[in-house]
Amino acid sequence: MSHADRKMPLTARPTEALAGEARVPGDKSQSHRALMLGLLAVGETRIEGLLEGDDVLRTAAACRALGAEVENLGEGRWRVFGRGIGGLTEPADVLDMGNSGTAARLLLGILASHPLYAVLTGDASLRKRPMGRVSEPLQLMGARFHGRQGGRLPLTVLGSSRPLPITYRLPVASAQVKSAILLAGLNTAGETTVIEPEPTRDHSERMLRYLGAEIAVADREDGRHVTLTGQPELTARPFSVTADPSSAAFPAVAAALLQGSGVRLPSVGTNPLRTGLYQTLAEMGAGIAYENPREVGGEPVADLAITGGPLRGVTVPPERAPSMIDEYPILAVAAALADGTTVMQGLAELRVKESDRLAAVARGLEANGVRVEEGPDSLVVHGSGGRRVPGGAVVQTHMDHRIAMAFLVLGLASEQGVTVDDGAFIDTSFPGFVPLMQGLGAKVGPA
Ligand code: S3P
Repeated sequence: MSHADRKMPLTARPTEALAGEARVPGDKSQSHRALMLGLLAVGETRIEGLLEGDDVLRTAAACRALGAEVENLGEGRWRVFGRGIGGLTEPADVLDMGNSGTAARLLLGILASHPLYAVLTGDASLRKRPMGRVSEPLQLMGARFHGRQGGRLPLTVLGSSRPLPITYRLPVASAQVKSAILLAGLNTAGETTVIEPEPTRDHSERMLRYLGAEIAVADREDGRHVTLTGQPELTARPFSVTADPSSAAFPAVAAALLQGSGVRLPSVGTNPLRTGLYQTLAEMGAGIAYENPREVGGEPVADLAITGGPLRGVTVPPERAPSMIDEYPILAVAAALADGTTVMQGLAELRVKESDRLAAVARGLEANGVRVEEGPDSLVVHGSGGRRVPGGAVVQTHMDHRIAMAFLVLGLASEQGVTVDDGAFIDTSFPGFVPLMQGLGAKVGPA
């Protein structure tokens, strides 16, 4: 991806209102999982609506390196011929997972219960991110890891030939850690259980069940117990990936902020473990309607219709964080235009995303004339009461796609526009973001 000398600055200029319909790309979480489960299933997996962003293309390449045939049929349609659980081949070279934490962590889970040697690396952002949260439980299952300090990438994994099932209580709410353990549990005899203090996105569970795995979910006093029965035969079945609610969040908030806007986003995933942002926007007074609610491939979807209007500040409860963990940067932008103060708590995990998002959001808002208070795991944003924010600054994005997109949305609702230092990383999750926003009337483009 981009380096210091190949940065791609983008600017968003003041825009009156957005209008029209736009199809946002496929869900990133589902896309990684569809490819990985295609690798582990026997036979041909057809996927439609796959997100063809850089993060997911890294997963496709890794699946190939582990022995799957992975073919791009065009327009989001892909075909995977899997190796079956236990049937992976040892990768001949280092697996480079680029910017993607999901790709790296879920793959470590798969590798942990296959007797293979593999080395994973990633870009400068991913190499800073903690991997101990997956290597620790996977070690308990019998895998061995050698990495840099804090278990960071590049990391060597020696998968176990006789993996042991574990019962593991997640120390942090993380769907990636839960999924890594469940994926390791696939090639492990017996029952593997993950206990989550707060429920996190359940795409792995839904998709595994759809392929024939046995997964039991029980809500108990100490949290949600997710139990997988090991060594199932996964039968290849087609996946249809829904549009990503985390990507839809950017045009949705832009429309909600700009008075007079009316935007429709068809077929967006409405899995309740992903929709915390939309719930919060509704509490802020945003006009959001869920039209034609239906199911696509075992996931709920709806056409989102968003209208612009005044927003008010709210307090977001910390227990909502797992269902909107990727959406705080764009929520903070909405809060900057709201009437009153918005309080966000329980945000410690934001510090270990593609960047330290808590700091990146606070600095970017301050630079553009928004008053904020950053705590160790909280953010308070003082809204402008509906007036355009001053803007005028260049925001440091720290190799983080969501920081770039969030501040471009702020620029639309500013007086002087906002520039982001590097928009190249937007392609990791939202290829076509700039033309999609332009199509709705946003004044955004090269700086
Ligand atoms: C993801 C889980 C979340 C999220 C990421 C995708 C997933 O990460 O931030 O973008 O697909 O499981 P954590 O598990 O670190 O919370």
